[in-house]
Amino acid sequence: MAVILAPSILSADFGNLQRDIEMLNRSQADWIHVDIMDGRFVPNISFGFPVMQVLKQHAKKPLDVHLMIVEPEKYIERFVEAGASIITVHYETCPHLHRTIQQIHETGIKAGVSINPHTPISLLKNIVPHLDLVLLMSVNPGFAAQKFIPETHHKLQELRHLIQEQNSQARIELDGGVNLENAADLAASGADILVAGNAIFSSSDPEATIAAFKKADRERSHIV
Ligand code: DX5
Ligand code: ZN
Repeated sequence: MAVILAPSILSADFGNLQRDIEMLNRSQADWIHVDIMDGRFVPNISFGFPVMQVLKQHAKKPLDVHLMIVEPEKYIERFVEAGASIITVHYETCPHLHRTIQQIHETGIKAGVSINPHTPISLLKNIVPHLDLVLLMSVNPGFAAQKFIPETHHKLQELRHLIQEQNSQARIELDGGVNLENAADLAASGADILVAGNAIFSSSDPEATIAAFKKADRERSHIV
């Protein structure tokens, strides 16, 4: 299966946001990953609804919203109104995770759960049958351009087994430190969706880098 590539808008040039969104529209990117940070769950603040408004207005691809915020249940409806096609909340922020997932589904969009690098896969056992996706953090959330944590490879295998064992339809998304060097390996190990921020936007030609990710994936899926 071809991997879904979701460039993270966090690494875009916010002075030229419309230009960067239009580049993503033209490019081979599949989704647009939207990182929302509150300065409480993570030690950084990214952006909120005014920027979502610009995304909604210009983006022609699904907005994959990753909520790194405490009490995400308070804002689900607003993010749906702001154009989210998928909302992912963190396991670590949701004492009533099952209810929060129901709340997302009731709005008619897809729901995901993300876990931090230290959070064990086994904690997802009872929620995974209800999910459209699981987002595995391969860095500690909060910042772009961090180094991929190698233990994520093992968690990816474990998650694949759990999804199979629980008969879940959930897709696996990997987020943090993904680049052209490790992407093919991650897709071959079962990642369905790859997020990449720094690797795309800090390259000299982001649109060509997106094409290179997709080309490497096509070559991989012919080999596998
Ligand atoms: C980290 C965010 C990521 C990040 C990915 O907290 O969730 O989506 O923007 O950025 P790179 O690809 O630069 O690691
Ligand atoms: Zn993210």
